[in-house]
Amino acid sequence: MAKGTTLKPRPEKPEVLEKTHDIFSVFAKRRSIRRYKPYDIPDEDLEQILDAARLAPSANNTQPWRFIIVKDEKVKTLLAQPRPQTFIEHANAIIVVLGDPSVWGPRGGMTWTTRDPIIATENLVLAATALGYGSCWIAMFQSRRRDYLLEVKRTLKIPDEVQLICLVAIGVPDEQPEPRSRRALEEIVYSETYGTPWKSNPEP
Ligand SMILES: Cc1cc2nc3c(=O)[nH]c(=O)nc-3n(C[C@H](O)[C@H](O)[C@H](O)COP(=O)(O)O)c2cc1C
Repeated sequence: MAKGTTLKPRPEKPEVLEKTHDIFSVFAKRRSIRRYKPYDIPDEDLEQILDAARLAPSANNTQPWRFIIVKDEKVKTLLAQPRPQTFIEHANAIIVVLGDPSVWGPRGGMTWTTRDPIIATENLVLAATALGYGSCWIAMFQSRRRDYLLEVKRTLKIPDEVQLICLVAIGVPDEQPEPRSRRALEEIVYSETYGTPWKSNPEP
């Protein structure tokens, strides 16, 4: 733990969380959660959530993803910079998602080093939802000042060549946001050619 970190009282264990096992219900239930109750996430749950990430597909099965679980209050505060994403520091844990290009050796593969961890991250977020946790992707993080990113890398001891992909804030939800709107299928799915609306069971 970083020097000078204030420890919040560690609750016995989280309340009983509502689990969802049907994958389509998990898709529908997931929301970006930005308010969390002050509970600790048991390691068994984190393990299950990260195992779901581990099982994601990757180009050439290179599995370039790496994850750092951050619970240290001081480091969480650092990750919540720059403001106004202060809600991140109230998350019970922050998962820092990284991409390691070394899995590709001299072949490069930087594109997949950044894309594959994103696929794994969605598995992670859905697994968290299935176990009853709330989570929020944080990608704004990526575009921040270079000196800030260097500070994050230094604090977390991330090697220079390893890419910071995104953060996921995770915790026991303290809000139940309404679903945000989504485009209708007709607007985004085409039949055979771009722009030709696809219709499920079209009339003969
Ligand atoms: C790649 C990515 C980056 C995101 N970055 C942020 C972020 O930096 N801060 C934040 O509050 N939400 C962030 N979000 C959450 C989106 O705002 C949210 O997914 C979207 O508004 C839809 O709402 P929903 O997740 O509740 O369905 C991000 C989501 C994704 C997928």
